[in-house]
Amino acid sequence: MSFEARPTGDSDSRLATRFRYEELADFIAGLVESGTLPAGSRAPSLREISAQHRASLNTVVQAYKVLEDRGVLEVRPRSGYYVARMSAALPLPAPPRPPLHPTKVAVSGLMLQLLENASNEAYVPLGCAIPSARILASSKLDRILARTARVKGSLLNTYSPPRGELPLRMEIARRAMRFGQALSPDAIAVTCGCTEALALALDAVTEPGDAVAIESPTYFGLLQVLRMRGLRVVELPTDAETGVVVNALREVLVAGRVRACVLASSFQNPMGFTMSLENRREVLRLLATHRVPLIEDDVYGDIHFGKERPIPFSALDRHDNTIYCGSFSKTLAPGYRIGWVVPGRHMARVLESKLASTLATPVLAQTALAEFLSNGDYDRHLRRLRRQFADTLERMSRTIGQAFPPGTTVTRPEGNFVLWLELPKTVDTRALFVQALKKGVCFAPGVVFSASGRYAHCMRLSGGYGWDARIEKGLRTLGALAAEALR
Ligand SMILES: Cc1ncc(COP(=O)(O)O)c(C=O)c1O
Repeated sequence: MSFEARPTGDSDSRLATRFRYEELADFIAGLVESGTLPAGSRAPSLREISAQHRASLNTVVQAYKVLEDRGVLEVRPRSGYYVARMSAALPLPAPPRPPLHPTKVAVSGLMLQLLENASNEAYVPLGCAIPSARILASSKLDRILARTARVKGSLLNTYSPPRGELPLRMEIARRAMRFGQALSPDAIAVTCGCTEALALALDAVTEPGDAVAIESPTYFGLLQVLRMRGLRVVELPTDAETGVVVNALREVLVAGRVRACVLASSFQNPMGFTMSLENRREVLRLLATHRVPLIEDDVYGDIHFGKERPIPFSALDRHDNTIYCGSFSKTLAPGYRIGWVVPGRHMARVLESKLASTLATPVLAQTALAEFLSNGDYDRHLRRLRRQFADTLERMSRTIGQAFPPGTTVTRPEGNFVLWLELPKTVDTRALFVQALKKGVCFAPGVVFSASGRYAHCMRLSGGYGWDARIEKGLRTLGALAAEALR
């Protein structure tokens, strides 16, 4: 078999002749890189490329084989060539192994630095886990808020009832029904974001000094909420795909080490995992047996890339042992600060705590949100968001694969908009964080996701701002800094 070769004009004799199949391979790789051929799409047929580029079929076959070797294309039996999901080419992070004993929550000093810089537009925004204003596209909601203020403003300038505004609770209940949560609006209490929901839930079931089982790594805001309540934690090991290691939870429960357990419903921050239905049922069974309540955080449930929204723990729970927490911060309106809690038998305690924490949630924001939810725009909005985030994470993974040093692993979430990277152990992302800020890039260093200073070689990267040349450049800058750190 012979392949066409052509001169490239390069003076180096080794490079002077590039094979035609190499040119074709680079051409197709360029289409993938630019997103013209998205991940998972069918690659152009061999005959198409052969005719378009006046290349022999053999040459095109060779080009596709090269792309297959590079992990750009994959062959599906009896179906042909497809653009590979490049993230699959990078291995997944290994499960961490924290000790299963209660520890005090030590919060990294980098957390405040991260929070200060994460929303500073001067930095490439890979640190901040909220969608950008462009992606949230909230102008319709803003108009509703302005009209509501104009028409009913003086009526709404008051405290809302303890559970919050009924129209909003009705909308939340209506949506919850779709994923198997049969709720009466009176079972819901509106809160100031998911943060307050988590705090009220913890207040209802723990006392200062108690220990709480949490995922490791976990969302750093939760660590702060736990620390401010004088709660200790047991960090549970997690697997990047299957979530909390159920045997570890069993061991902790059998030893009677915790008073409560906080878990993500799905697409956990920062790892992105969703536990299987089977494991979720087993977790519920274990927790009920040991009379340890579950607090579930479902802020990312609506951002699923697959067809179905995962079913939250509370919808599977037959023991009234779950307190559900949610909010609109990740999908629609982080600035409105609207979340909710479904506390089950702990409602009275939750409302008492609410009285002492924020008393009431702003009525105007609740009313505008209820109207927005009632007119059906939210579902269209969510469909766009999911497509955008799936595409962004795919492109980010691909760029990470090219730009970060060998030995880097990255998660493959099926929802959410963040990626968790594990770098070779000698790379300290705390130092990298400082260097990256100097180069105009912000990301979340691994240590802020642990109560005990773990994950110094890890980082979380957010795709909340979508994909553009600035994000790509920021990723390549981080990759180069990581490679330099290794040297
Ligand atoms: C897992 C998780 N829970 C809760 C929150 C806080 O949500 P809210 O802004 O609604 O308080 C965040 C924000 O990053 C989060 O990632």
